[in-house]
Amino acid sequence: MNTYVFHQPVMEKEVLHYLLWRKDGIYVDATVGGGGHALSILGELDEGAILVGIDRDEEAIKMAKETLKNPSLPVYLVKERFSLIDQVLFSLGIEKISGILFDLGVSSWQLDKAERGFSFQREGFLDMRMDLSEERNAYQVVNEFPEKELADLIYYYGEERFSRRIARAIVKERDRKPIATTRELARVIERAVPQRGKIHPATRTFMALRIFVNEELKEIEEALRKVSPLVEEGGRVVVISYHSLEDRIVKRFLKDEEEWEVLTKKPVYPTPEEVRDNPRARSGRLRAGEKRSKIKEG
Ligand SMILES: C[S@@+](CC[C@H](N)C(=O)[O-])C[C@H]1O[C@@H](n2cnc3c(N)ncnc32)[C@H](O)[C@@H]1O
Repeated sequence: MNTYVFHQPVMEKEVLHYLLWRKDGIYVDATVGGGGHALSILGELDEGAILVGIDRDEEAIKMAKETLKNPSLPVYLVKERFSLIDQVLFSLGIEKISGILFDLGVSSWQLDKAERGFSFQREGFLDMRMDLSEERNAYQVVNEFPEKELADLIYYYGEERFSRRIARAIVKERDRKPIATTRELARVIERAVPQRGKIHPATRTFMALRIFVNEELKEIEEALRKVSPLVEEGGRVVVISYHSLEDRIVKRFLKDEEEWEVLTKKPVYPTPEEVRDNPRARSGRLRAGEKRSKIKEG
């Protein structure tokens, strides 16, 4: 049966708790995806509020349009990378926002669509681009990058200790014939490294390739750098990350930037019940900050 599973918003209640401090504000869902969080945010807002949804994946925007059709409040959905948040808001004539949510990574439906090439469990072309208009895909990285670069990126973004062995196996295989699909790559990795515990040997390599292809760390770094002047005093930033390198960027941003007060001294994790119902929430960590009021001098 091919039933479509709607993306269950991760830590939905916690997001609403940290994000919504005024009900008539302008809020941005920077990773609108299928519109799960956006729909619940919209349901809490009052007259005067505006919601902006951004996603770099055209299909996500189409799905969010469907989820958020006939909204009771103004909703703008924009296909763009969130590192261009300043330009998106400028084009909408919005100067200040009350809060912004980042629910990083890929969504369940992106993973589930074999032809997008994100999952080693589904046979599909090795693509992994969130934005299909971008030039570089995972096929090019896997088949064209020098062995050392490949090993380094698998080590760094995947935190994979067998990175050299995997890179060597990839190069050996592609010398015979190009590695074109997700399952082909997974088989090369399965042969090269042992299965450790429950996690499949290809998990970390696939994550590394996805992060690299989509420049995910650079995206969140740039977006956070731009966000401070765009958020009004008292406004919120809420980030759910699924990877320790992402989480480190968010933690450092909230700690180092004087304009922000950390609302989550420790990261917030999904409850065991949520993880049971939605295993993809498992690695989620939420951090939130509040933009401080300017201290008046004199
Ligand atoms: C985990 S999903 C979000 C799901 C959403 N919160 C929901 O409840 O339906 C992440 C989404 O962010 C998008 N995305 C990831 N990085 C992005 C970026 N740099 N700019 C814009 N969208 C991005 C992905 O295409 C994906 O649709």
